[in-house]
Amino acid sequence: MSSVVVANIGELVIFEPERPIRHDAAVVLVDGVVQWVGDDADAPPADARVDARGGAVIPGFVDSHSHLVFAGDRAAEFEARMAGRPYMAGGIRSTVAATRAASDDELRTRLTTLVAQARAQGTTTLEIKSGYGLTVADEARALRLAREVTDETTFLGAHVVPAEYASDRGAYVDLVCGDMLAACAPHARWVDVFIDSGAFTVDEARRILLAGRDAGLGLRVHAGQLAADGGVALAVELGAASVDHCTHLTDADVDALADSSTVATLLPLVEFSTRQPYPDARRLLDAGVAIAIATDCNPGSNFSSSMPLALALAVREMGVTPLEALAAATVGGARALRRSDVGQITVGSRGGVVLLDAPSHAWLAYRVGVPLVREVVGGVR
Ligand code: NIG
Ligand code: FE
Repeated sequence: MSSVVVANIGELVIFEPERPIRHDAAVVLVDGVVQWVGDDADAPPADARVDARGGAVIPGFVDSHSHLVFAGDRAAEFEARMAGRPYMAGGIRSTVAATRAASDDELRTRLTTLVAQARAQGTTTLEIKSGYGLTVADEARALRLAREVTDETTFLGAHVVPAEYASDRGAYVDLVCGDMLAACAPHARWVDVFIDSGAFTVDEARRILLAGRDAGLGLRVHAGQLAADGGVALAVELGAASVDHCTHLTDADVDALADSSTVATLLPLVEFSTRQPYPDARRLLDAGVAIAIATDCNPGSNFSSSMPLALALAVREMGVTPLEALAAATVGGARALRRSDVGQITVGSRGGVVLLDAPSHAWLAYRVGVPLVREVVGGVR
């Protein structure tokens, strides 16, 4: 066992319901798990001491939506978008071709680099989806690789219909619900479907999600990215843990979310990278909807893994305070993954703590683009 005390914390954001923030505090972690939280003056001794230098300490970010197992890049597509071309789901197929052609080691090297970059920016819990293989073997491979770095793995065989099934999409949905699910479920915690005019319909998604549930997986949905497409209602109907994007929502969607346990996960880096309007986080919070903020890091619609930038965009463009944005990026993400052991700093928390070169969490939005994460302590799977 090894213990470490993080001492001399000016502002400690703990997100306990009655008390989100403490001042002049310390935290003790044993083998990466929080064992004690209290006043700095009362901090017990530990094997090692980390000095927060009077700065802010926050929970490790929970990035509940990413696609990090892939090869190649789509920088040219990004440049074209910035010149005015719209985002379309079809670009996914070019990443599928590159990913199928890559070796396990190539995919693993890219994946571990991306995970290390995320951790350096304060992310300690990371959900990773498949979805760039789209064959039984390639989807299972993506999930096996993702499992090497996280327990939060999601089967997304229903990302798009691959080119070889273009004339028989029903056969592809059969494959996803049958052999592909059987091969992938042992490596996955979740099943997800991309509902979009260029991807899957609500009825196809219902079939796939119900098959995933029968195989023991929890449910997540991509919906409302490019239009209000009926996906939010489906996510709520099926009790999905999270419905992600939510860029376009009807009033009925908002009401349904407010009456549900489904988290609305907002992905503002996608809006940034696709020039879409930002989702209205204020409208959701005021209606009583639980929200999360995640990156959706992927080679197409957004290739940033920066939770601090996502949070800053939420503050700048989506009507929330820095504390609300930070809550969505930590405890909100935990809720979207149905986890209570990450996203907070309380005894038993496994999500680690992040030391900032800043006196307050608000600086994450105030000093946008500046690397404020000085050190990440703890965080265990
Ligand atoms: O969440 N929306 C679907 N999937 C990704 C985009 C993937 C891609 O363009 O490669 C997303 O934005
Ligand atoms: Fe996504």
